[in-house]
Amino acid sequence: MRVFALCNNKGGVTKTTTTVNLGYGLARAGRRVLIVDTDAQSNSTYSLLGNLDQEHTLFDVLIHGMKMADVILPTKQPGLFVAPSSINLSAADLLMASAPGRERKLTRALSQIKDFDYVLIDTPPNLGVLTVNAFIACTDVIIPIALTTYALIGISILETTMEELRENLDVSLPIFGVVANLDDHTRLSNDVLSAVRHHFGNLVFDTVVPRNIKVEEAHNQIACLFDYAPNSTGAQAYLKLVKEVLDRAEGS
Ligand SMILES: Nc1ncnc2c1ncn2[C@@H]1O[C@H](COP(=O)(O)OP(=O)(O)OP(=O)(O)O)[C@@H](O)[C@H]1O
Ligand SMILES: [Mg+2]
Repeated sequence: MRVFALCNNKGGVTKTTTTVNLGYGLARAGRRVLIVDTDAQSNSTYSLLGNLDQEHTLFDVLIHGMKMADVILPTKQPGLFVAPSSINLSAADLLMASAPGRERKLTRALSQIKDFDYVLIDTPPNLGVLTVNAFIACTDVIIPIALTTYALIGISILETTMEELRENLDVSLPIFGVVANLDDHTRLSNDVLSAVRHHFGNLVFDTVVPRNIKVEEAHNQIACLFDYAPNSTGAQAYLKLVKEVLDRAEGS
């Protein structure tokens, strides 16, 4: 079971969009996929289920010790499942502050499930206890980066945090890949992409996802981008990204 944590402490850099579209794409490629939504904003939960009325959520797992299997729900896409989030996860930092083993709650919860090929963990835009749980539970990290501002400024905080976790908590925390997104084909986008490639080298996927309104529309309409606008530049890019991910993860 490959567990990818999609992390970037900066907000609005397409963590959720990339999680959801990778989830759909991998499921449509025949893999069994679980999306774990650790963000109290619950954007990936809403995008996959169309409501936030779930009786049990990841909150029950992390705070009340409920079994992961008891909160996982199917989506409309065969092969794609979600462990939903809820707004009460916004209190997790406080509630888990003194809990023993608080950094490994998600690791323990995921160790109970075996029947997925890929787990994708969507994370909140901060480096609080939930993101740390995602880092420790994952086998690899995927970093989505928006080519809209000087994206690398915030990255050093992410990298320092990851280095501290490697040293203090004995996790290897490899970076599986960096996804450049929201490409506007402007001079700024090109400059930021060059800087990102210079910094991360071959870790950056060849596929650069363009800014494309169909991506946002599919998300808002609780639709799968690959059905909603299969010929859009956004869908084509995400399809290529899924192929790159499969090649990197499973290729010979
Ligand atoms: N390729 C794209 N083209 C156009 N809009 C996009 C694209 N990718 C993402 N978006 C939009 O950009 C916004 C931010 O994306 P998203 O919510 O995935 O970021 P995030 O990193 O998860 O944000 P947060 O830090 O708040 O969780 C959303 O409105 C989303 O629909
Ligand atoms: Mg998000």
